[in-house]
Amino acid sequence: MMRAGPASPLAQLVARFGTDLIVTERSALEAVSIDQHRRHRGAPLALALPRTVADVTSLLAFCNAARIGVVPQGGNTGYCAAATPDGSGSQLVLSLRRLDKIRDVDVANGSLIAEAGCVLADVQKSAAAAGRFFPLSLGSEGSCTIGGNLSTNAGGLNVLRYGMMRELTLGLEVVLADGRVLSTLQALRKDNTGYDLKQLFVGAEGTLGIITAAALKLFPAPRATGTAFVAVPSPAAAVALLARLRDGLGELVNSFELLPNVALRLLDRHLPSLRQPLPADSPWFVLCEASSADANDPLTEKLGRLLEAAVDAGEVTDAALAQSERERREFWELRENVPEAQRRAGPSVKHDVSLPIGRIADFIAEAGAWITAHVEGSMLVCYGHLGDGNLHFNISGADETVAIDAHAETMKRTVHDMVAARGGSFSAEHGIGQTKVGELTRYAPPLELELMRSIKKIFDPNGIMNPGKVLA
Ligand code: FAD
Ligand code: MLT
Ligand code: ZN
Repeated sequence: MMRAGPASPLAQLVARFGTDLIVTERSALEAVSIDQHRRHRGAPLALALPRTVADVTSLLAFCNAARIGVVPQGGNTGYCAAATPDGSGSQLVLSLRRLDKIRDVDVANGSLIAEAGCVLADVQKSAAAAGRFFPLSLGSEGSCTIGGNLSTNAGGLNVLRYGMMRELTLGLEVVLADGRVLSTLQALRKDNTGYDLKQLFVGAEGTLGIITAAALKLFPAPRATGTAFVAVPSPAAAVALLARLRDGLGELVNSFELLPNVALRLLDRHLPSLRQPLPADSPWFVLCEASSADANDPLTEKLGRLLEAAVDAGEVTDAALAQSERERREFWELRENVPEAQRRAGPSVKHDVSLPIGRIADFIAEAGAWITAHVEGSMLVCYGHLGDGNLHFNISGADETVAIDAHAETMKRTVHDMVAARGGSFSAEHGIGQTKVGELTRYAPPLELELMRSIKKIFDPNGIMNPGKVLA
């Protein structure tokens, strides 16, 4: 008599969880198989779509026992292909998109509990509906998820005042690789009972466990804002202006973004419907904003006075102050669409670096000069969160005849070495994923790498959690 061989891992998964939770249709797998830059394509075993925390628990316990690699995925907007499976056909993509409830909004405690699959913009709206503010804000907020924001420790446009996702987290619910649930959802602001385990999962890019829910901090809603679009002669002038605004407005300054002239030209060419508030004749621009919970705080006037003083000091050459919420939105749309304008201009090589703010200007000068001298036909689009010391140092070809990717390795090494020489980081807010694993091995101190590998072994001894990401 013929004995049936063991069922394949896929057949076992489908038999155990059914086709509602385990999806195998090619069309459903296509979208989760490729990163948002469309540069890394994987071949998943299947797509798991759990509906409950209990589903995640059973799925992970099963995968751990069967040694099936699990790739968590949220909105798939990440920049380092961290949510993309490898090409082996053996890794299960586990999307959190069905875990999308706001479990609680506690105004008195200033906290909100959201499930991992909640889209960031929906969390912002829930906070606003309760008269509160959730400050994480990114260009991708209409599609990225809380689980992805936590797992990448996302930054964005309000870090200067409110911090990155790490600082916005009060507690987490995490399913560990073996299916056990670790919950710190109490939403306490003070809790010194040993190691702060939740923080290990923030920025872990799905390599230590699956976040299913988070307790997040809420803040008083901003009721007055002052927003300015400013022309500055140089990055050094922008840094001086930042200090001036912080001296004058203290913690009310929430955003300070640097834009180069070329970004405005790209916006003009590729997104001409966006109105530009200033003539594009300055080498650099800054978009800055301050906000207050006091509706009567005359922030536009205060900002105006500080900018006048900055003109006298030679830090500013021109400025437009938003006179309405509509104008404020217009300023922000320009900033938020810089990545889209650059995408429309063709392929680009991206660097997401951070430096001590005092070293930003000389970094831009040195690295910019190197690019101009060594990469013929290049177009440097260096912009970003100057207030946080974070630059997106991206290089495209000036036209479609330039094969910018051919220079990617040389540019990466030069730029990252220049950053390291100034005590900076080669990954400020986008993480490691699969694209920067080699960079982490190269630049992280050996002791840090050793400790990270030890932590990984404790949480995921069988190596099923997002294999091949972060650590080599
Ligand atoms: P995904 O891309 O799906 O996943 C990212 C990582 O998290 C992967 O490692 C994945 O495995 C893991 N993961 C996802 N969910 C879970 C979970 N529940 N448990 C465990 N692991 C999980 N980023 C910034 O920091 N600042 C910006 O200003 C910014 N601007 C952007 C603008 C645009 C236009 C775009 C497209 C992206 C931008 N990003 C920015 C990058 C990206 O949006 C963020 O990294 C975001 O936090 C990713 O969320 P996501 O839900 O899409 O995660
Ligand atoms: C941004 O700040 O716009 C993003 O983090 C960088 C990008 O989308 O290229
Ligand atoms: Zn950014």
